[in-house]
Amino acid sequence: MKFIGQQRFGGPEVLETVQGARPVPGSGEVLLRLGAAAVNPVDCKLRAGRVRFLGDPPFTLGFDISGTVVETGTGVTGMHPGDNVFGMVHSRTGTYSEFVIARANALAPRPSGVDHVTAAALPTAALTAWQALDAADPRPGETVLVHAAAGGVGHFAVQFAERRGARVIGTARTANHRFVRGLGAAEVLDYTATDFAEAIDRVDVVLDLVGGEYGKRSLQLLDDNGRYITVQDSDATGDPRFRMVTGRPSAATLTEIGAAVARGQVRVHVDRVLPMDEVQEAHRLSESGRVRGKLVLTPWGA
Ligand SMILES: NC(=O)c1ccc[n+]([C@@H]2O[C@H](COP(=O)([O-])OP(=O)(O)OC[C@H]3O[C@@H](n4cnc5c(N)ncnc54)[C@H](OP(=O)(O)O)[C@@H]3O)[C@@H](O)[C@H]2O)c1
Repeated sequence: MKFIGQQRFGGPEVLETVQGARPVPGSGEVLLRLGAAAVNPVDCKLRAGRVRFLGDPPFTLGFDISGTVVETGTGVTGMHPGDNVFGMVHSRTGTYSEFVIARANALAPRPSGVDHVTAAALPTAALTAWQALDAADPRPGETVLVHAAAGGVGHFAVQFAERRGARVIGTARTANHRFVRGLGAAEVLDYTATDFAEAIDRVDVVLDLVGGEYGKRSLQLLDDNGRYITVQDSDATGDPRFRMVTGRPSAATLTEIGAAVARGQVRVHVDRVLPMDEVQEAHRLSESGRVRGKLVLTPWGA
């Protein structure tokens, strides 16, 4: 089978297609044939060695997959060859691969009417947005500020917050304002033209998908009951309103999100679909910081 490997940390050029043996699923695991895999910013950070939780290369990147069950390992019940599933994989063998090993209990059934590309775009971004909002727990009528509202996580966070009855303000460049309003934001600020900390009076929740020096400036917008939720390191660390969220696999939540997508209640915006042969270009696009919604990879020659 083909997969994307890397022998060293580095730029997109270290990513190469290699051949290897098809893996065999262990206990509680399934082997999936790749339908599509999403690119997440963390893939680029891991590739470059800026974060190292996968250890040293060689490894294969990718956390998100939509695929078809080919084989089940021992102890897997309720999942059979031919089933279409999607979910999150946390391993050194990744999802940038023709065949992927996944924990069966992290996978959700792919609803009919939701294609591989759409399903693959969901796991990390949508689960992170969902879990960040769970942590913030905005009540109807509260105001939620979403930084980087046009990105993978942000475009889901805007929709989920609006569905919870919150009033949403997003930050994005002017070119993305129509897009973010179309997702349900009441207001969008161009962070390149306006200082959000001065333009906004007060909000109940900040969902910070940018981090860094956005932290303390965001805290200025909250009163003592406000919640600052980030998925990135930021200078707000230590404040009692600070909370860091890491996206975790959840088959139950993915099933719920998948159903909402199938009903047309949640929009999945895929900016570009590239074949796996163009993975280097996909990483360059991701690192531009300008992707609207998600980038998705399809199998070689698909
Ligand atoms: N801890 C976790 O579990 C976890 C999970 C998922 C993501 N993350 C992290 O969260 C961050 C966002 O992830 P993502 O997948 O949403 O990224 P992404 O899709 O690559 O985000 C791209 C978007 O960011 C916007 N953007 C860039 N700089 C901005 C700024 N200064 N202010 C406002 N918007 C800005 C851009 O919109 P404009 O073109 O309009 O600027 C673009 O649409 C990444 O750093 C990622 O690693 C962490």
